[in-house]
Amino acid sequence: MKIKAFGVEMWMNEYENHCRYNLAETCVESLTVEQLLEMSGKKDAILQELLPMKLTYGAIEGSDRLRDNIIQLYGKQKRENIVVTHGAIGANALVHETLVNPGDRVISILPTYQQHYSIPESYGADVQIVKLKEENGFLPDLDEVRALVTDNTRLIVINSPNNPTGALIEEPMLRELVEIARSCDAYLLNDEVYRGTNAEGDGFTTSVADLYEKGIGTSSMSKTFSLAGLRLGWVAGPEELIHDICIHRDYNTISVGMLDEHFAAIALECRDQILNRNRQICHENREVLDAWIAQEPKISYVKPKSGTTALLKYDIDMSSRELCVKLLESKGVMFTPGSVLDMEGYLRIGYANNPQVLREGLEKFSEFLAELN
Ligand SMILES: Cc1ncc(COP(=O)(O)O)c(C=O)c1O
Repeated sequence: MKIKAFGVEMWMNEYENHCRYNLAETCVESLTVEQLLEMSGKKDAILQELLPMKLTYGAIEGSDRLRDNIIQLYGKQKRENIVVTHGAIGANALVHETLVNPGDRVISILPTYQQHYSIPESYGADVQIVKLKEENGFLPDLDEVRALVTDNTRLIVINSPNNPTGALIEEPMLRELVEIARSCDAYLLNDEVYRGTNAEGDGFTTSVADLYEKGIGTSSMSKTFSLAGLRLGWVAGPEELIHDICIHRDYNTISVGMLDEHFAAIALECRDQILNRNRQICHENREVLDAWIAQEPKISYVKPKSGTTALLKYDIDMSSRELCVKLLESKGVMFTPGSVLDMEGYLRIGYANNPQVLREGLEKFSEFLAELN
């Protein structure tokens, strides 16, 4: 089976370990094991628990403790609605593998995480794209979605909060999307890996899994919870679908690592501490970015409402890749070129990392822009 190369991952693999100021990273600044254990307030007890742990496969579909913690992030989900996966990337891959057949119509927004259009394309699905436009605040035009829906539409895929734009589909629009999906009996998948990072309120918008009988939410510990090293994600969705996913999952997962599960449960049990820390980082860094954009005439953007990334539009006669490579080589600052997101003419910034790195990286970028004149 042939599949298009994953643009963002190739870019990251090539350059991520060769930059000084990583403004391509999309996690809220990752936590150390020590920081996590300090936040849990049970450091010594947890360390004692670890030593006698026998490293078996553990609970195959995710431990009860972990799934009971995950359902706290939802309104209506039960243990049976959750299956644990290798990151959100594993969750998304399993959803597509389970649902999509050759010839099925799949409607995906763009830009989004490339899995959502390249995987169904590789299965021979009829993939239709709804392009997110700057003039709509990078929100989908629902009339365009309605016009694409047919009787054989199997799946509509969105990603809100959105990577790369930071756009947020609020609940009223999400409910309209549910109505569109329901009109053709399609599943509605929201890749919710950035859920919990909204600039307003408690950071969370209602999950699609709580709004629709065929709603599927995928998520993980990586971004909102700053624990990408755990490689732990999940699917939240209808029980029958979880059952079907598990049939596929038996062939490629067995279980998620016991230590990953254990630390994820600990993190979710002290989620308020992690979320408070992360909301502050996201808020302060968004304001640093906003102030920088305001004084940089060659750069503009739609201010992100959520997530950890934004798309920067640049007024420079250069391809996004050339610009990113030159910037990396001359100043050590790493962005992601729009070209690898099918969004030429833009750069993606991940702004939720270390505040000092963000400030210095933006200063270096300003130097680079001044030197172009
Ligand atoms: C929208 C989106 N979905 C899924 C993933 C994969 O995340 P995870 O680390 O949970 O596998 C990413 C990572 O960048 C992402 O941006």
